[in-house]
Amino acid sequence: MDQCRQQDAPPDGVRGVAQVWGATGAVGRFLLPLLRSSGTRVVAYSRQPQDATATDDLIWRQADLQSVDLTWPHALPGSLICAGPLDHFADLLERTAIPCGTRVVCLSSLSAQWKWASANAVDAALAGRLQAAEQRVLARAEASRAECCILRCGLIYGAGSDRTLTPMRRLAGRWHVLPWPARAKGLRQPVHAADLAQVILNAVRSECLPTGIRRLPGPEVLDWIEIWQRVLATLHPSPRVLRIPDPALKGLLMWLVRRGEPWASKLSMLQRVYEDQIADSGDWHSFGVTPRRFQPTSQDFVDDVG
Ligand SMILES: NC(=O)c1ccc[n+]([C@@H]2O[C@H](COP(=O)([O-])OP(=O)(O)OC[C@H]3O[C@@H](n4cnc5c(N)ncnc54)[C@H](OP(=O)(O)O)[C@@H]3O)[C@@H](O)[C@H]2O)c1
Repeated sequence: MDQCRQQDAPPDGVRGVAQVWGATGAVGRFLLPLLRSSGTRVVAYSRQPQDATATDDLIWRQADLQSVDLTWPHALPGSLICAGPLDHFADLLERTAIPCGTRVVCLSSLSAQWKWASANAVDAALAGRLQAAEQRVLARAEASRAECCILRCGLIYGAGSDRTLTPMRRLAGRWHVLPWPARAKGLRQPVHAADLAQVILNAVRSECLPTGIRRLPGPEVLDWIEIWQRVLATLHPSPRVLRIPDPALKGLLMWLVRRGEPWASKLSMLQRVYEDQIADSGDWHSFGVTPRRFQPTSQDFVDDVG
């Protein structure tokens, strides 16, 4: 059976230490307490110094994925988890002798498939880089006889550190309205970072890892207007969505783009809000996790997890 549940886990310690990159990111911050409360010993990496913990079940190391050399603290192979940049993680694996039996679990992005055929050169190049990194991780794992699972996800929220919902909500709170292009109703499936963290925990602890590339979009398909209405409902008083006629907005954008970066890149982001970015959500079942519907609370936009 292709389903993994945490209760399938081997006795504590059998899988060795979990080494986690992206531990300070949206998913990583939910993952660390889950790993610790499951009895998994964790080595977490950050480029910034982190406060030492009082117990030895979590050790912080200050390191950059681009230069760190890996050591295995115990004889057991353990897990390598990346909830940070996948291309740097692929580089790390390629310069590391990975013990046979190691479990590799990492986040990727559904942009790898959504943007693959994009007319926008920036987006198509991003999809190409993501797909190349995924293939490098899979190849390295196979060559090392490690088990490997790559989790493609979409619009992540829940830790207050995302670059879309949280900043726009803040802006709307300040302006009391959220200006939005009237016809920009592309479909999305927001996914909560805590649900992705639960998937990673189950993947690390279960006996049978669903290997290969897995797709984990959120369970609800919503257009941007519905998403913003639910996000803005978490503010009091609740700002409204102000629908701007698209031609007027386009004129403003073209003016901004002529001013150069960062506006030129942001235009590509705006183009995408007219497009659907959806995927089948059946892979959640393989990890024994039921993702939550998109019913955000104000806590989901506060950057104080963990
Ligand atoms: N954000 C989204 O909505 C979204 C959507 C789909 C997929 N994803 C995927 O999720 C993963 C994480 O994305 P993200 O948006 O949260 O942010 P990110 O900027 O890719 O990663 C942030 C995390 O990675 C760590 N990190 C970044 N560069 C590092 C380096 N050179 N060495 C060591 N650690 C490094 C950061 O730790 P420190 O700063 O503490 O060093 C932080 O914990 C990526 O694989 C991305 O493709 C994200």
